[in-house]
Amino acid sequence: MSENVTDTMITLNNGVDIPQLGLGVFQTPDGQATSQAVTWALQAGYRHIDTAMIYGNEESVGQGMRDSGLKRRDIFLTTKLWNDDIRAGRTREAFEESLDRLGTDYIDLYLIHWPAEGWQQAWEDMEELYTQRRVRAIGVCNFQKHHLEELHSISSTKPAVDQVESSPQFVNQELIDYCHGELRVDVEAYSPLGGTGGSVLTDPRLEAICRKVDRSPAQVILRWHIQRGLIVIPKSTHKERIEENARVFDFVLDEDDMRTISAMDSGVRHGSDPDNFDF
Ligand SMILES: NC(=O)c1ccc[n+]([C@@H]2O[C@H](COP(=O)([O-])OP(=O)(O)OC[C@H]3O[C@@H](n4cnc5c(N)ncnc54)[C@H](OP(=O)(O)O)[C@@H]3O)[C@@H](O)[C@H]2O)c1
Repeated sequence: MSENVTDTMITLNNGVDIPQLGLGVFQTPDGQATSQAVTWALQAGYRHIDTAMIYGNEESVGQGMRDSGLKRRDIFLTTKLWNDDIRAGRTREAFEESLDRLGTDYIDLYLIHWPAEGWQQAWEDMEELYTQRRVRAIGVCNFQKHHLEELHSISSTKPAVDQVESSPQFVNQELIDYCHGELRVDVEAYSPLGGTGGSVLTDPRLEAICRKVDRSPAQVILRWHIQRGLIVIPKSTHKERIEENARVFDFVLDEDDMRTISAMDSGVRHGSDPDNFDF
């Protein structure tokens, strides 16, 4: 087991390596808050940043990447195609706009953000970007089993990932098992700590495990995700938390601990339902 966040990769179904832990920047304010968070993360050894057009901070993500002094090719960068652009058939334009804001000429992973009307055409357009090597991998977010089945029936290109909500509060295991099964699609856990404003991190059911392994609730939860084989993208704007969240490759949870955390599942989402969203 590698103990270093920098070297812990998962190989996606198209052969591209992705660092298993990345920094999410949803609700991280544009400007210095984002550029600093990105630079702190890269200094702490992260090599994977997860943003989206709709987060409104792509420029600052690009700034933080440049401020880190790392080479572009040493960072795995994800951004996402927003729903309005999907509905308007603007995949190509939206992609170029994201590249401009990020100050880069390729994206490592480009994702459909939600299964908005028109996603089938958007997928075809993203396949073209992939074939043209403008992106190293393409995938989806918030796709349920039936969306994945439809995608499989219309396209020979498998999504490299499905980025979906998963946390001790909303484990989402059935969908994850489906992806990890014969489909061979990796899953990225979003809102892995229960999301901003959530109560997962203060759940008393984590206390005994935290004492036993001498780690914080956030570290225990992130470790639980990692041992489930997920890619995980916690968000924080605080330097010490960003560093803390990366120190999850040098301890192990036993089967009882894993079961205890999985049993916290209430089936209640923090975010929106992919089968019923209005944005
Ligand atoms: N595809 C999608 O539809 C979708 C939807 C939601 C999220 N995402 C992605 O997933 C990423 C993560 O999800 P998220 O931002 O919703 O929530 P999250 O990562 O589960 O939780 C973030 C919250 O946890 C706090 N936190 C982080 N580390 C902590 C620590 N060590 N100790 C105590 N508190 C800590 C943060 O506070 P501070 O920032 O104040 O430290 C923030 O309030 C997003 O940033 C985004 O990239 C994708």
